[in-house]
Amino acid sequence: MDVSKVLKEALVELESTDNEDSVQLIRVKYLGKKGLVTELLKSLKDLTDEEKKHFGASVNLAKEELLGKINSRSLEINKTSINEKLTKESIDITFPPPISHLGKIHPISKTYKEVIDIFGNMGFSVAEGPDIETDFNNFTALNIPEDHPAREMQDTFYLDQKDENNKPFVLRTHTSPVQIRTMMSSEPPIKIIAPGRTYRCDSDSTHSPMFHQMEGLLINNDANMGHLKGNLINFCKDFFQINNLKVRFRPSYFPFTEPSAEMDIAYSIVDNQIKLGEGDKWLEILGCGMVNPKVIENCKIDSSKFQGYAFGLGLDRITMLKYGLTDIRSFFNGNNNWLKENGFSLGRI
Ligand code: PHE
Repeated sequence: MDVSKVLKEALVELESTDNEDSVQLIRVKYLGKKGLVTELLKSLKDLTDEEKKHFGASVNLAKEELLGKINSRSLEINKTSINEKLTKESIDITFPPPISHLGKIHPISKTYKEVIDIFGNMGFSVAEGPDIETDFNNFTALNIPEDHPAREMQDTFYLDQKDENNKPFVLRTHTSPVQIRTMMSSEPPIKIIAPGRTYRCDSDSTHSPMFHQMEGLLINNDANMGHLKGNLINFCKDFFQINNLKVRFRPSYFPFTEPSAEMDIAYSIVDNQIKLGEGDKWLEILGCGMVNPKVIENCKIDSSKFQGYAFGLGLDRITMLKYGLTDIRSFFNGNNNWLKENGFSLGRI
């Protein structure tokens, strides 16, 4: 049998293929168990030793060459088909995606933006602090004594690592430590808000171990409770878009403010739905008060010259109220269908 003839035939067939399947058919036809080249090798047994040497060598060479050509043809075909696919399926990334493919803004993100806008218009700038805090910033400087219930294990997440005072770091339980950081690092007048994540060891439909607060702090020479109430009432009317929103301030206690109050907004239930702004039921949305002079002194500011107010707003709570959402956990379980239904389009934010 003529080795070179078989090889030539195989190469001609290979040249004329244009898809991977026929390349594989050629591989089987020549190199498979019953393939033509394999048959040639099998025929060696009928030859003399001398013939075997020459014939064997030439069949093996042909086999090698054919194998190499088959592999490179296969690579070539794959490359062409990938390129074809790429040209055919290419997308114009400058083209706007269909509405159904657009992402949605999370309700909490929308609230973030709105509260920053509203307080920004009142002259507050945004301050920040880390989620992991020192015991001093989260508690001590805020006049929260060692034995205060807020320090107990069921509320606070403690970390293994200790700070320079040999106290364990904590996940901040409120945004109030940003008050301390700001007063320590800047001179009055101070007028900041600090939205951010906060953590408490608590979980049910209205509590999540990670939630959001927004701190407000104003320090100058003459701030008073009237200014505080006025600003908060204006904020709520603007945020909830209700002009004659019914609110009340209830006396309360926080170690870091004196006097302290909590702000409630009125609501009623109409047709099983919560109606905000009127009625005889009350919902608490924030804590506030005049900054305790002890806290001002802890931050090395002269409390005989400066005074101010602070507030801490629950961002998840006001978002749930505004949009009638009942389970805080739905904010954080990453369900895209929920987001599609309850999120906001970019154009509307
Ligand atoms: N830090 C308080 C809380 O988490 C809220 C608060 C902030 C109260 C500022 C008064 C002043 O409940």
